Amino acid sequence: MEYETPLFFHVMQYADRADRDVIDMVSGNPDWEPPQALRDGLREYADLEPDQFQYPPSEGLLELREEIAARRGVDAEQVVITNGAGEANYLAMARALERDRGDEIILTDPVYPYYPGKTTMLGGTQRFVAADDEGRLDPADVREAASEETAAIVVNSPNNPTGAVYPEETIRELVAIAEEYDAILVSDEVYDHFDLSGEFSSALEFDSDHRIVTNAYSKSMAITGVRVGYAIFPPHLVENAKSRHMLVNVATTRPGQYAVLEALRETDPDYYEENRDLLRKRVATFTDALDAAGAEYTTPKGSFYVMARFDGYPGTLENVKRLIDEAGVAGMPGEAFGDSRTEWLRFALVTPRVEEAAERLAAYFD
Ligand SMILES: Cc1ncc(COP(=O)(O)O)c(C=O)c1O
Repeated sequence: MEYETPLFFHVMQYADRADRDVIDMVSGNPDWEPPQALRDGLREYADLEPDQFQYPPSEGLLELREEIAARRGVDAEQVVITNGAGEANYLAMARALERDRGDEIILTDPVYPYYPGKTTMLGGTQRFVAADDEGRLDPADVREAASEETAAIVVNSPNNPTGAVYPEETIRELVAIAEEYDAILVSDEVYDHFDLSGEFSSALEFDSDHRIVTNAYSKSMAITGVRVGYAIFPPHLVENAKSRHMLVNVATTRPGQYAVLEALRETDPDYYEENRDLLRKRVATFTDALDAAGAEYTTPKGSFYVMARFDGYPGTLENVKRLIDEAGVAGMPGEAFGDSRTEWLRFALVTPRVEEAAERLAAYFD
């Protein structure tokens, strides 16, 4: 079997090797500061006793699981600490497929490309449901796609790449559909702290044996390299997921878990609000400049991404490389996110140079 490797690293490498200054808007690596307590926690860790450098409990440090459980209103037994949201999604999708209720995974189009990649890797098949132009998902379309074959419905809100935030009614309906078809709703909420609309709704608000919620500190604490995330399972599904996590990873980073726990305890809500404000400003700056460039674009209600479309310049990998070489701006090709956005490019607002990037784009497409 051949796995499809997501294109991100390929594009980043190409941009790195370019023979000119390139503004990197490829991946979702925040350029802002992690919480101070996260840095302090890591520093402190270096001086702990040797036993703190040994295996942590496989399912995660108990204190961290308890802290998460208290914040999310679940039992600590339901929480597995993972190697980021990436592993959390993998465990959730694997667990849904293991139930032998079917091998289909319902995904949206556009889609975060790791979901179809993981589906293939796990031996499942993808079934795509189209989101509308603004990235909104109509639960009626999901219901129509659902069947006896549906193992899971995997959604992401706030959404990468569209910036859509699903309202409460959508999430409620998705949980209901998962229940009707005895499937699992996997709700990836890794951008929950970057809801710019105030409309975000977590699947945890709807108690059900048919939903798994995944999340991480990668984005909320600007630490994609630290690798701490979690999945919250219904009690009867958690044991197998813990075993899989143990067999694949043994455990995830102990210093990372320690520092995240410190940061959860010590970080003021202002930290998150300031980052949202920064992002709001960048969205405004970038989209104003795209207006000036005569481009079509999406204004994100959440997450870090703006999708833009330039006349006569489809979102192919080849065009992304041309844009790197000729305009000095690196984005992601829309074709990486499914069939519906092949005309589009995705730009991540994780650089202070968003205005300059938009000016370069305007000049290039003039
Ligand atoms: C929708 C979505 N889920 C999961 C991830 C991966 O998160 P992590 O770095 O915590 O594994 C990303 C990263 O960009 C993402 O956009």
